[in-house]
Amino acid sequence: MCGIVGILGKGPVAGDLIEALKRLEYRGYDSAGVATLENGRIVRVRASGKLKNLEEKLATEKLSGAAGIGHTRWATHGKPTESNAHPHASDKVVVVHNGIIENFRELREELQGRGHRFASETDSEVVAHLVSDGLKAGATPQDAVAATLKRLKGAFALAFLFEGENDLLIGARRGSPLAVGWGEEGVYLGSDALALAPFANSIAYLDEGDWVVLRRESSEFHNADDAIVERRRQPLQAGSFLVEKGNFRHFMAKEIFEQPEVIGRTLAHYLDLAEGVVRLPFDFSFDPARLSRVTISACGTAFYAGLVARYWLERFARLSVDIDIASEFRYRDPPLPDDGLMIVVSQSGETADTLAALRYAKQHNQHTLAIVNVDTSTIARESDIVARTLAGPEIGVASTKAFTCQLAVFACLALALGRARGVLTREQERELVAELIATPGQMAEELNREAQIEPVARDVARATSSLYLGRGPSFPLAMEGALKLKELSYIHAEGYAAGELKHGPIALIDYAMPVIVLAPPDASLEKTVSNLQEVAARGGHLILIGPPSARTAAAAELAGYVEVAENVSGPFAALVYAAPVQLLAYHVAVFMGKDVDQPRNLAKSVTVE
Ligand code: G6P
Repeated sequence: MCGIVGILGKGPVAGDLIEALKRLEYRGYDSAGVATLENGRIVRVRASGKLKNLEEKLATEKLSGAAGIGHTRWATHGKPTESNAHPHASDKVVVVHNGIIENFRELREELQGRGHRFASETDSEVVAHLVSDGLKAGATPQDAVAATLKRLKGAFALAFLFEGENDLLIGARRGSPLAVGWGEEGVYLGSDALALAPFANSIAYLDEGDWVVLRRESSEFHNADDAIVERRRQPLQAGSFLVEKGNFRHFMAKEIFEQPEVIGRTLAHYLDLAEGVVRLPFDFSFDPARLSRVTISACGTAFYAGLVARYWLERFARLSVDIDIASEFRYRDPPLPDDGLMIVVSQSGETADTLAALRYAKQHNQHTLAIVNVDTSTIARESDIVARTLAGPEIGVASTKAFTCQLAVFACLALALGRARGVLTREQERELVAELIATPGQMAEELNREAQIEPVARDVARATSSLYLGRGPSFPLAMEGALKLKELSYIHAEGYAAGELKHGPIALIDYAMPVIVLAPPDASLEKTVSNLQEVAARGGHLILIGPPSARTAAAAELAGYVEVAENVSGPFAALVYAAPVQLLAYHVAVFMGKDVDQPRNLAKSVTVE
């Protein structure tokens, strides 16, 4: 992961480097650093910890160079110390890197054999040394970079500056994303469009294997074979990239409360609201009637969205669905059937494992469809069909609105496939669409009841371990709830199918461990209530999230109760139940004083395996 940025500006660029890095901090926040050319000389300022530490340092160690690069790190090789912070330098070159150089050990030994001394434990530093070797042998910066790229194995996005070269910035990409931006005040490199949005009015993405030579008045793209190529330059609308907290304390809270709006917007993109039917903004590149199977792969929260969707695709489209986390999927070497559809799900569209799962599916002749939030991302560009979530930029590292928008897209897709396959009648489609259209309003109502969550959150905050239980689509939502709680509050949490309780986890039940039961009024409510009673009978610490009827049916002593309206029922209830589940994790973390938007050790865009 990590975020990288580079600028050739008209005046001092350190301030803009920091501004861009702030927008990339979601990619990692273990350490940060910048380098600029001060009268042609490379000067670096680096700091461990969050970007604000670097900002504080820059207040005294002022930089005035008009060419600079910057980095925010998610540590892979070497602790997040200042000496491991990027940029890394060697003689006349300085570099920032996102990704992993897999053959760095061999390269380092080889370079050490030639007298190079290393100042960090990172894999990235070898890149600077290889380039400086080339420069010493008389190569131009371009040739030295081109030769270095050929020696690297692994995934990377790189940005280089060179001593004495005030008008030269070189970028390279293999596996990790990189974009070039052009603006009034200069030319830019960045890990994503979000970083460049305040400065650039047009943007172009490097293709896999590309490298680019930037000067203030020219830009030259090369492909992996070093041939000069053209890359499409497109306008960049800054307005679509507003990243402000507004009146909220945290981005996560803002993003939770944005959900009624962005789910509504996403649904409007896939439904004909006037007619009350599904109308996809794309044509299927295959015949839905002939589909033999759907395979879904994703990571983290996006994977849980896929798990919820499995219920919908099976029920409404009568499709059999195989689903696996992306880091496991391709290593199973699964056989994939003719006329199979692969759906990958990713907020960022850059998650390395999900991308690899997509590529595996393509190699095995699957039709491919990507549900992504960033439509310029690599996953979007490599899929046959792109189904966008219209969530807008999600800054909180723990995913919230992207998750519910993924569910909204999946729901529409399941209904469209159900219709196209002759499983659903027009009438059934209309009924289901009506239920779906009701979800943003229902979610808004549930968010209005935020106050009831706080006492429950204070209670959960005392725990060291917890269980979430659910059945049907509430089972993956239970897993998502547990993930939210552990990533935000560092309280251990597991999500379980309520029916599995008696096959092991029931041994854990005592009053110290909250058991959070998700009980929407659906066909499995009675059974969920039985499981709840099993917990009560063992003196468990029960918290119920459900309608008053579930509370009455439970007839058990509850340590906490989060009421959800009775009419949040039916197949799409999980979409609305996501709200109390997210709010609970959020308030536990706030109450415990945790860093809600940037939990420890995490990063939002995971571009390493
Ligand atoms: C990271 C994030 C999660 C996210 C997962 C998948 O682990 O912290 O919030 O769900 O990556 O990311 P993607 O961008 O592919 O949805």
